[in-house]
Amino acid sequence: MEFADWTRRRSQGVPLAYLRQWQEFFGRRFFVDQRVLIPRPETELLIEETLRFAPDFPENVRIIDVGTGSGCVAISLALELPKAQLFATDISPDALTVAERNANAFKVHDRICFLTGDLLIPIQQKVDWILANLPYVAAQRWQQELSLAYEPRAALVGEGDGTGTICRLLRQALPLLNHPGRMLLEIGEDQGGLVKKAQSLLPGAEVDLLLDLAGLPRLLRIVV
Ligand SMILES: C[S@@+](CC[C@H](N)C(=O)[O-])C[C@H]1O[C@@H](n2cnc3c(N)ncnc32)[C@H](O)[C@@H]1O
Repeated sequence: MEFADWTRRRSQGVPLAYLRQWQEFFGRRFFVDQRVLIPRPETELLIEETLRFAPDFPENVRIIDVGTGSGCVAISLALELPKAQLFATDISPDALTVAERNANAFKVHDRICFLTGDLLIPIQQKVDWILANLPYVAAQRWQQELSLAYEPRAALVGEGDGTGTICRLLRQALPLLNHPGRMLLEIGEDQGGLVKKAQSLLPGAEVDLLLDLAGLPRLLRIVV
């Protein structure tokens, strides 16, 4: 891309990550373009919280990353946990093309099973951990948020009030989780009410929130 074209597109609001075609995540550079969400620093919490439990993992722990986008979560874990078996799903075949490109670049393609489909529907076997950064922005808020205009709507806008896609995942999860099993789901800072929802959808599960440095909810943590 010519410099003049670059500056014109930047001044129109195209995110820098799309222009240079990379974004750093957990210390590594991932290829990104407009087919995928630009990985956010707050999503690194998902990785940090998972790695905290690595010493207790069963041999060949099975982890699924639902809504993988660029693949940043599944690929980071494949690199950090050489014995883990990873699955990565996305409803967008375009996003999976980007994720597989990144997996090839990091030489972990053979460690991750990439599957297209809705949430956990493509998964045929039980797993130990379910991780997800699914869309959770309400449609109305998305329309008002100009900074989000260049990223795929399907990566940002959650069903219903924004939490609907996460709630559907909660409904699908129980039959696919080993016991003990864990879920870590990124949520919006005003979506702490998902704790009660998760408790009602997963009876008997321990559910709490992981807060960020500002004291705002960032991750829904579930142990079954
Ligand atoms: C917020 S982005 C997260 C991407 C990546 N995991 C990250 O953290 O940068 C959400 C991803 O979920 C995918 N997605 C949306 N609805 C889905 C569904 N029903 N089933 C599977 N994936 C879905 C989108 O295509 C998008 O890639």
